[in-house]
Amino acid sequence: MKRAVFIGRFAPFHKGHLSLMQKKIDEGIPLLILIRDTHYDSYSAEIRKRMIQACMKKLKVNAKIMIIDDVESFNYGRGVGYEVCEIEVIPELKKISATNIRNMIDEGDDSWKKLVAPGADKVLKDYLSRKGVVVWFTGLSCAGKTTIADAVSDTLRKKEIRCERLDGDILREHITKDLGFSKKDREKNLERATFIAKILARNGVVVLSSFITPYEFIRRKIRTELEKEATFIEVYVKASLETCKKRDYKGLYEKAEKGIIKNFTGISDPFEEPENADLILDTENKTVEECSEEVLRFIEKLKY
Ligand code: ADX
Repeated sequence: MKRAVFIGRFAPFHKGHLSLMQKKIDEGIPLLILIRDTHYDSYSAEIRKRMIQACMKKLKVNAKIMIIDDVESFNYGRGVGYEVCEIEVIPELKKISATNIRNMIDEGDDSWKKLVAPGADKVLKDYLSRKGVVVWFTGLSCAGKTTIADAVSDTLRKKEIRCERLDGDILREHITKDLGFSKKDREKNLERATFIAKILARNGVVVLSSFITPYEFIRRKIRTELEKEATFIEVYVKASLETCKKRDYKGLYEKAEKGIIKNFTGISDPFEEPENADLILDTENKTVEECSEEVLRFIEKLKY
C-alpha cells in the first residue's frame, strides 16, 4: 500500500496541518505522518502522536503515525518513484502557526482551542490540565519554608501525588556547591533550581521549592520561566526578622551578627518583600499544619 507522506513537528497538530492533508484524505489515499522527534519542543513526540491519532480516528482517516529522528535534510536522486508536491492551503488556514498557538496557551488565551485540529484539541486540553505545579516558597532563613514544604510533601505523598522537594540547603551541598551568596551567585543558584523545577514540572510532578529568593527581579524571572511549563504558585513564608533570629535553628544569625558569615540575608544582605505572592503564610501566628493546609488547598484547586 502506498501512502502519502507528511512530515513535521506538529507541536501542536492544528487545522493548518490538517488542511495540508485534506486533498489526499479526500482522494482516499492513506497517510503516513512522520513526527520529527525534536527534543526542544514544548510537547513530547508521544503527546504529539496522540494528538494526531485522536484527530485521524475522529475523522476516520487511514493514517499511520510514526515518530522519527529529527531531519537534517531530504536527499533524492533521479526517479524516486513518488511525487514531491507542494500543497496550496487557503490563506486563512495557512496563517495558523504552532508558535502562535503555544503563545496563546502560555498567555491563557483560550482561542487556541479553535485552531487545533478536531480530536487533537481534547488530547491537548487533557495534557495541559495535567501540567505540573511549582510551589515556590520564599522567605528569610528560619521563616519556615523547609518545614512547611516538608509537611505539604508528606500529605501529597500519602495521596500518591508525585512530588519532589528542592531545597536551598540541599542543592547548595550538591549542584550549586560552587556558589556563594553574592547577588550574582544567588541568581545562578536560583537559575539552576528553576531549571530542575521546570524539567520536573513538565513531567507532571508537583515541585516544592524552598529558597530564600531574596530579590523581586529574580522571583519575577522565575515566575516567567516556570509559567511556560507549569502552574506557578509563589508562597511568601512570612516571619519577622526578630522571630527568625529567635528561632535561629542553625545558629547562623548569631554568626552573621558577629560578622563571621558575610552577606547574610536580613543582616548584611537584603530581603525584598515579595510583591506578587499568590499566598502569604504568617508563620508567627499560624501552625505548620495550618500553613501546609493552605498550600494544599491551593494545589487542590488546580484539580490535583
Ligand atoms: S538564595 O538566596 O540563593 O535563595 P538559598 O535558599 O539557596 O539562598 O540558601 C539559603 C541557605 O543557605 C540558608 O537557609 C542558610 O542555611 C544558608 N546560608 C549560608 N550562608 C548564607 C547567607 N550568607 N545568606 C543566606 N543564607 C545563607
